[in-house]
Amino acid sequence: MSFGKRSGAPAKKPVDVAPPEPERDPTPKPDIKVVASREEAKPEPKQEAAPPPKPKGPADPAAEARFAQTKINIFNALIDTVDLTELSKLETDQVREEITDIVSEIISLRNLVLSAAEQQRLITEICDDVLGLGPLEPLLARDDIADIMVNGYDKVYIETGGTIELTDIKFRDNTQLMNICQRIVSAVGRRVDESSPICDARLLDGSRVNVIAPPLSIDGPTLTIRKFKKDKLKLSDLVNFGAIPPAGAKLLEVIGAARLNILISGGTGSGKTTLLNALTGFIDMGERTITCEDSAELQLQQPHVVRLETRPPNLEGVGEITMRDLIKNCLRMRPERIIVGEVRGPEAFDLLQAMNTGHDGSMGTIHANNPREALSRVENMIAMGGYNLPAKTVREQIAAAVHVIIQAQRLRDGSRRITHITEVMGMEGEVVILQDLILYEITGEDADGKLIGHHKATGVRPAFWDRARYFGLEDLLQEAMEGLQGDPA
Ligand SMILES: Nc1ncnc2c1ncn2[C@@H]1O[C@H](COP(=O)(O)OP(=O)(O)O)[C@@H](O)[C@H]1O
Ligand SMILES: [Mg+2]
Repeated sequence: MSFGKRSGAPAKKPVDVAPPEPERDPTPKPDIKVVASREEAKPEPKQEAAPPPKPKGPADPAAEARFAQTKINIFNALIDTVDLTELSKLETDQVREEITDIVSEIISLRNLVLSAAEQQRLITEICDDVLGLGPLEPLLARDDIADIMVNGYDKVYIETGGTIELTDIKFRDNTQLMNICQRIVSAVGRRVDESSPICDARLLDGSRVNVIAPPLSIDGPTLTIRKFKKDKLKLSDLVNFGAIPPAGAKLLEVIGAARLNILISGGTGSGKTTLLNALTGFIDMGERTITCEDSAELQLQQPHVVRLETRPPNLEGVGEITMRDLIKNCLRMRPERIIVGEVRGPEAFDLLQAMNTGHDGSMGTIHANNPREALSRVENMIAMGGYNLPAKTVREQIAAAVHVIIQAQRLRDGSRRITHITEVMGMEGEVVILQDLILYEITGEDADGKLIGHHKATGVRPAFWDRARYFGLEDLLQEAMEGLQGDPA
């Protein structure tokens, strides 16, 4: 069998070249399924809409356009011949070889006139498209980018240092973009097409990816990548950025080391995961810690860590392992601390149970705009989980389980701050009582639109003082509180 040959005769071909029969590889290969629907695998053979790739140097625009068109034709012939998703599972060298062979064959079959240099460039670019993420490669190589947002083939935005900007990177067309999306998700055994247009995946480097395709996204496939940072920001970095004052960092150290149960609350990209990761730095070396995440991001430095990850359902819609499943299982693994990357559903109840049953020092992040809202979110998640519990009971559970809420926020000038460190004091009647220890106060705006503000201590004595003393952290806490009083920086 020839490598990656699509089965069945194509209904309609956009290019009039006989698919070459690459019979070189004698080793048997598995049968290749057609993964993407033909609609998406092939572009309408449009002539004019393809913008040429960014010219390198003073290239002749007409020649560039011709080259781009040739590349489209050859690419179409190629995807007609092989299944790219299967191809991309092979070793890089093998793929290059395979593509070089097939492309050379297509060129000679179609009597295309290309210089040796052009042919080489064509093969390199096609290989990059097939193996890598095409036009996204230069962005992925940059370390300063937090998010890459692709809204259709011609709008690629990035976020650096808290601000979002449009780049001049463009895909050839929505088909190329869709092919790249397809390749990303097929690497984790998933598929994205009209029948399942929403998909989460992960790049090899750990970056998180979301794809939503037409017809749901109206102006073309939409790809969002949260880049994985190898070197996570440390608490000292957050102090340098002014996200938290030095004394506040000491307070966080006490909170982490005294095994308080923590909820980190914040919006998307506000720095929750970063903060969670920083807080895990205060876990004792000997503690058995289990992390549960949708996509492993946390990097704990301790030796005794078990990392768990949820699993989406497979193509047949079975085999899903939810966050609830993981947390429940966690409880049978004799954890000392449980760390949940993101609490978004009924697993909130299981996390509270864990916190209430002696797994002190457990932590999780939650999507909310302030500490009070974080608690009502937990309450809602539990209500939606179908537990038939009176609201008061749920609140009591929450109030007993959660000790501290840390609020992260991305302010409108792009800076990220810890805006609240808030203690959960208990219940008064039907209401959970909160007590802020630190607040961030915005006082103005400078000429460049940067916000001016400072952290300020409320002056109350933390209710966890005795607990800090028990863990031998009283002096540190004292220092932190004095620092916060002394310098409202
Ligand atoms: N205080 C901060 N200052 C500057 N950048 C930050 C800060 N906190 C987080 N970041 C960066 O912001 C991006 C999003 O952070 P992340 O923790 O993943 O957000 P979340 O989990 O809330 O979505 C990351 O690239 C991270 O390095
Ligand atoms: Mg996160």
